[in-house]
Amino acid sequence: MKVVVIGGTGLIGSKVIARLGEHGHEAVAAAPKTGVDTLTGEGLAEVLQGASVVIDVSNSPSFEDQAVMDFFRTSTTNLLKAETEAGVTHHVALSVVGTERLQESGYFRAKQVQETLIKESGIPYSIVHATQFFEFMKGIAAEATDGDTVRLAPVKIQPVVSDDVAATVGRTAVGAPLNGLVEIAGPDVFRLDELIRKGLAARNDPRTVVTDEHARYFDAELQETTLLPGPNARIGKVTFADWLAQQQ
Ligand SMILES: NC(=O)c1ccc[n+]([C@@H]2O[C@H](COP(=O)([O-])OP(=O)(O)OC[C@H]3O[C@@H](n4cnc5c(N)ncnc54)[C@H](OP(=O)(O)O)[C@@H]3O)[C@@H](O)[C@H]2O)c1
Repeated sequence: MKVVVIGGTGLIGSKVIARLGEHGHEAVAAAPKTGVDTLTGEGLAEVLQGASVVIDVSNSPSFEDQAVMDFFRTSTTNLLKAETEAGVTHHVALSVVGTERLQESGYFRAKQVQETLIKESGIPYSIVHATQFFEFMKGIAAEATDGDTVRLAPVKIQPVVSDDVAATVGRTAVGAPLNGLVEIAGPDVFRLDELIRKGLAARNDPRTVVTDEHARYFDAELQETTLLPGPNARIGKVTFADWLAQQQ
């Protein structure tokens, strides 16, 4: 089975490609680095020839409100049109747990538009909602940093390692389309402020984490459980503690 992975050179995409290859599938990475650009349409029709499944794990190079909206709206529209023309029978996309609850944020408004375009496309689909990747903790800290202070809300978070996300995306892609959502999260629930404090300390990062219940997360105010998945989420195997130990 030919599976095209849009964003196949990225963090999740490269892991999905490796896993599909191990399971005997023809997995093709499609990204600007391989000559495929979903924004301009370059190389799209060619790479989709003979593909049954498309996995979209691309991401916007800029998280600025308008740029990220333009990215997901244009790239998803171009991709779904090309898939219809190529006769693709399963579109799989990776989005974020709680996207619908984070609509004060430009990034999550763009992810919601991506999801709506997929649902309305007529192509059988599966959307994987993942919690925050362990690898993204640095990004959360950077976004919340002002000088040497990192301001974060004391809300619950259940992050997951990228390998467990890639495994769920790969398994979903080779299964029957869900025409719905599946969630994947890590094994442990933390408090966001405490988790980042621990992560920074482990790296001897001099920044101070200040707990502030109104601190925004990518412009969105958070409630206690905004970032948590529902009761039916798949749970990854790797703990944050084991992952952190491995990094050092
Ligand atoms: N970070 C998190 O904690 C988290 C949590 C849940 C879900 N997600 C979702 O996971 C997805 C993947 O994230 P990631 O961290 O794996 O991304 P990443 O490592 O930043 O990779 C992004 C990929 O998108 C490709 N790309 C960029 N512009 C493109 C274009 N115009 N046409 C085609 N491909 C393009 C890049 O290609 P080049 O290599 O050629 O630049 C790269 O392969 C995102 O959609 C994100 O919303 C993230």
